[in-house]
Amino acid sequence: MSALSDVKIFGQRDTVVEGWYWAFKSRDLKKGETRPLNFLGKELAVYRGQDSKVYAVDAYCPHMGAHLAEGKVEGKGLRCFFHHWKFDESGELVDIPCRKTPGISVSIKHYAVEEKYQTIWIYTGDTPRYGVHSIEELDGIELDSSFGNQFVKECHPNIMMINAIDAHHFASVHDLPVDVKFETRKISEHTIQFNNITKIPVEKWYLRFIGRFYANALTYSMSYTAGSTGSVTVGPDFLHCHIIFALRPTGEGRAEGLTILVTKKRKGLKGLLLNPIILFATKCVGNYFAKGDTEVFKSIRFNFSNPIKEDEAVIKFIQHLEKQNCVEWGFGKVRVNH
Ligand code: FES
Ligand SMILES: [Fe+2]
Repeated sequence: MSALSDVKIFGQRDTVVEGWYWAFKSRDLKKGETRPLNFLGKELAVYRGQDSKVYAVDAYCPHMGAHLAEGKVEGKGLRCFFHHWKFDESGELVDIPCRKTPGISVSIKHYAVEEKYQTIWIYTGDTPRYGVHSIEELDGIELDSSFGNQFVKECHPNIMMINAIDAHHFASVHDLPVDVKFETRKISEHTIQFNNITKIPVEKWYLRFIGRFYANALTYSMSYTAGSTGSVTVGPDFLHCHIIFALRPTGEGRAEGLTILVTKKRKGLKGLLLNPIILFATKCVGNYFAKGDTEVFKSIRFNFSNPIKEDEAVIKFIQHLEKQNCVEWGFGKVRVNH
């Protein structure tokens, strides 16, 4: 592939790929609570109804523009703080207290919401065409999860994401003694996977020892959904660690990230004792990955003008992302000027 500097989606701050993006940790939104959220540059009000479900709506009240996160949860709906207009769970205006019936037809826009990995996810399109990112190995299994870091980085999520498949820098930055090579698997229109195919070398005694725990290639698998949420699977054959890096663009080109550590649920005492240890070990692995690249993400001006063969995985990621659907998002247009 020639120069990759004329991309339409990858790393573009004014483009929003249709998909699920993390919003809050589930525990940070209790039943009956509302919270404001700047979500990919758009202001939202997110609330948990009395039915325990989470709802996400455009922030500003269509009456006079009050922020609906100032409002009050009533049943599955939300009542604006200012003149007490009430919107039901589908966003319809159902009550104006000073009138017997509303008499006007007004609604607020709702966004699809899902909770997975103890995290609230919001969809940027109208009707979800697929689910929140899933880890292939754990599909259909009951899961346990915990959180790593929550962070903001000075570059677009897509640029951070390719770091995990930028095999070229594993040796130069992270001193990885293994030569990583990827094969690519398209899981769906929205998800692409990169699997390492090389075995651990046998030249050094400690590598020979580690190599005993891998029947085949060194397990290092990275899956990406819609270019902003990715998960890595690493570890010996008897214990795989799964780390999700959930990122969302801020609208100004930054990445807001949340690291989620996932393992299968283990029953009884075994689960009680083992799972926290596994999740803690997974967190350490995640921190190891994040270490070393901090400075480059502060100053990088991404311009991939001279790709080489060794950058193949990164090129495939970009090509996959360029086929994603983008949504009309209207950055900042819903802001109210005071
Ligand atoms: S601004 Fe919301 S009811 Fe008036
Ligand atoms: Fe890195």
